[in-house]
Amino acid sequence: MRWPTGTSVLFIVLCGFVAGGQPTTAQERKKPDLAKITEAWLASPHADRSAEAFNHWNDEEARVVPGECATCHTSRGIIDYLGTDLRAVNVIDQPQPLGSTVDCVTCHNPKSMALQSVVFPSGAHVDGLGKEAICSTCHQGRASGADVTAAVAGREDDVVASDLSFINIHYRAAAATQMGSVAAGGYQYDGKAYAGKFIHVKDEPSTCLSCHSQHSLKPKPVDSCASCHKGAAKYSDIRSTALDVTGTGDTGQGIAHSVATLHGMLGVAIQKYAAEVAGMPVVYDPHAFPYFFIDTDGDGLVTPGEAIFPNRYQNWTPRLLKAAYNYQFIAKDPGAYTHNPQYAIQLLQDSIADLGTAVALDMTGMARP
Ligand code: HEC
Ligand code: HEC
Ligand code: HEC
Ligand code: HEC
Ligand code: HEC
Repeated sequence: MRWPTGTSVLFIVLCGFVAGGQPTTAQERKKPDLAKITEAWLASPHADRSAEAFNHWNDEEARVVPGECATCHTSRGIIDYLGTDLRAVNVIDQPQPLGSTVDCVTCHNPKSMALQSVVFPSGAHVDGLGKEAICSTCHQGRASGADVTAAVAGREDDVVASDLSFINIHYRAAAATQMGSVAAGGYQYDGKAYAGKFIHVKDEPSTCLSCHSQHSLKPKPVDSCASCHKGAAKYSDIRSTALDVTGTGDTGQGIAHSVATLHGMLGVAIQKYAAEVAGMPVVYDPHAFPYFFIDTDGDGLVTPGEAIFPNRYQNWTPRLLKAAYNYQFIAKDPGAYTHNPQYAIQLLQDSIADLGTAVALDMTGMARP
């Protein structure tokens, strides 16, 4: 059976709302504007039928979205997932048909709407959530710091191990960022303390939906942020901390700027360590799997021909793998600076510091939150 089109899905949802009882005039006035909601959803990435995230499996022989991907990449996979006892994180045993998106039914079904808890890849079980639980189920990533710990267990920090390979958090894991050390999505270094969930405004719910519209997915307009964050013209202007986290004295800039600066510094540190300790220079390409490649000409840049799978980086040492994992964690959550600035900064600083025990890196003046 082909899954119904947008219109029939809308009809089903509409029936659900209308079936709620005879509306009085007052209730009628408060009735949601379905046309507007549908329009907002249609313009959102969740409805983008052409996105790689909804077409990645089209050329595979099986012509289905496999169970390990279907929970997050199809309309109804999550309904199957929520019907199980959640034993395997985000994996279902049934493939789903190709060609669906994240649509009305994905969220508007009794299981998704009643959901209050999420199991993260680390095994952490977070309970007591509201309607954002559904967002956090898909936006939680597919790996955690524990996968890195397991991969490097019992190995020397600076010895290349040919059987190590890059571990990818996956994409837009905003919930893992937001939960910080509660979900432990990042690789957390021994002996360091890490920020937990980012409680944005005390005594107000810190949920995805306190910033994002559930249908357009856009964050609230920046003027609404500016009521507290005076003078912010862009999200990336916002800063509340006075700490010089980069050691560059950029405290007049938005926290987004500082996170990006630290991320850049970590990139440089990774390249230095790879060349000097792992014995093979590395480059990072954000758009090519598996992201880290051999810098064949040693120019520090992605030269055409380098970002191909056969040229993937293979000189991983435990220390390099940990830092690269955290580098990708932040790279693939462009909202990390707002989802959990402290956790993001801690992961980046600690990764740089750890590489800095093996190569010379300057961290003068960097204050850790
Ligand atoms: C826990 C939920 C989850 C699971 C399970 C999952 N993904 Fe994703 N995936 C996401 C999210 C969320 C995005 C959205 C990225 C974005 O907004 O660009 C994504 C994006 C992608 C993209 C698009 C990347 C891009 O650059 O546009 C590909 C390809 C992809 N996933 C492949 C897979 C494959 C293959 C599997 C199964 C082996 C899988 N995913 C399993 C959540 C998941
Ligand atoms: C990614 C999940 C998601 C998708 C997709 C989605 N919704 Fe929603 N929707 C929500 C959440 C969450 C709420 C808030 C529910 C609450 O507060 O009780 C909501 C609320 C609503 C409401 C109540 C009014 C409002 O705006 O709060 C209506 C009506 C609605 N959705 C219709 C739709 C329709 C029609 C579609 C498809 C075109 C759709 N939704 C797609 C998550 C989603
Ligand atoms: C069933 C899994 C699923 C659920 C539930 C879900 N998302 Fe998504 N989300 C995705 C996928 C897959 C994409 C990538 C779509 C694309 O590339 O067009 C995405 C994209 C997004 C994007 C855009 C990212 C970008 O790359 O531009 C935002 C923002 C977002 N989701 C927020 C939310 C919020 C907020 C909720 C809860 C109301 C939610 N999502 C619920 C799977 C999900
Ligand atoms: C404090 C407000 C806030 C909260 C809370 C929040 N977000 Fe965001 N989020 C933003 C802002 C602002 C951006 C845009 C970042 C940018 O583009 O600079 C963003 C970006 C994103 C993106 C990437 C969009 C893109 O263009 O690539 C995704 C996906 C996302 N958020 C999902 C979520 C989910 C899921 C949650 C809950 C776990 C959440 N967000 C909680 C403010 C918030
Ligand atoms: C009701 C007041 C209020 C509103 C509205 C508000 N914020 Fe905040 N925001 C705060 C407070 C208070 C902090 C400090 C929290 C902390 O550090 O514990 C903060 C911190 C932040 C930070 C971290 C800054 C840093 O230097 O670490 C970001 C990013 C942020 N908010 C983004 C947003 C965005 C985006 C919006 C609008 C969608 C928004 N805020 C709306 C009160 C608010």
